Amino acid sequence: MSDRVDQLISDILRRIHEAIVENDVTYEEYQAAKQWFIEVGEAGEWPLFGDVYIEHVVEEGAFGNRSGSKGTILGPFYLPDAPVLDAPFELPHRPDEPGDPTVFHGRVTDDEGTPIPGANLDVWQADAQGSYSGFMVDSPEGNLRGQVRTDADGHYGVRTVIPGPYTIPLDGPTGKLTAAAGRSPWRPAHIHLIVSADGFEPLVTQLFIDSSDYLDNDVASAVKPELIVHPRPSTSEPGVLEFEYDFALARE
Ligand code: DHB
Ligand code: FE
Repeated sequence: MSDRVDQLISDILRRIHEAIVENDVTYEEYQAAKQWFIEVGEAGEWPLFGDVYIEHVVEEGAFGNRSGSKGTILGPFYLPDAPVLDAPFELPHRPDEPGDPTVFHGRVTDDEGTPIPGANLDVWQADAQGSYSGFMVDSPEGNLRGQVRTDADGHYGVRTVIPGPYTIPLDGPTGKLTAAAGRSPWRPAHIHLIVSADGFEPLVTQLFIDSSDYLDNDVASAVKPELIVHPRPSTSEPGVLEFEYDFALARE
């Protein structure tokens, strides 16, 4: 038996028991909760529920005081082994991909500003309708997922489209609980990244689009002010938006 398991489960159970006592939870409510647990499992929504309602506290505890750029939650829609892209570093997309074409670029450095050549940026995002490829049938396999590397000066660039806001599935048990509690089911529009390099802590983060709704009401509580980006019309390419973001990595 592990002391850690004993400590954690005892503390969690004590807090659940306190909530039951303080709120006079009835037998009907207990049976409804059990049925809801079953439905979350049957719908395969435990990862989604965890990443929406729990992960942000774990992330802040683990990395809140780390040097370098801010991180935030990984979420349930990361897939490893996205293709490594060559110039012009455009995320794979449909021929008629909806959404505003956008380029973003910047530098990856250490926490003192020294550039890191050959750093990897693993990028994934929802499409303009809020669909993630590999998880939602309306987005083709591999859509809007790719990896790019920094050049000799630590520069990177990514060409993509602005994602749409995302709602957790409304007809599943997590969405039903969210609605029953009168909470918003939305996440603001965001682009996920894992930025990594040899000798540095991987940075799991998201960039939030400044014009998106729900920035101040993210169901997953994952927005941090440092992670909001400001796409503006490109000065060199008509019809394309552009923004800059630099990433600073903490040493291992
Ligand atoms: C969830 C969805 C996301 O796109 C995300 O970044 C985090 C969590 C979710 O539905 O759990
Ligand atoms: Fe997401």
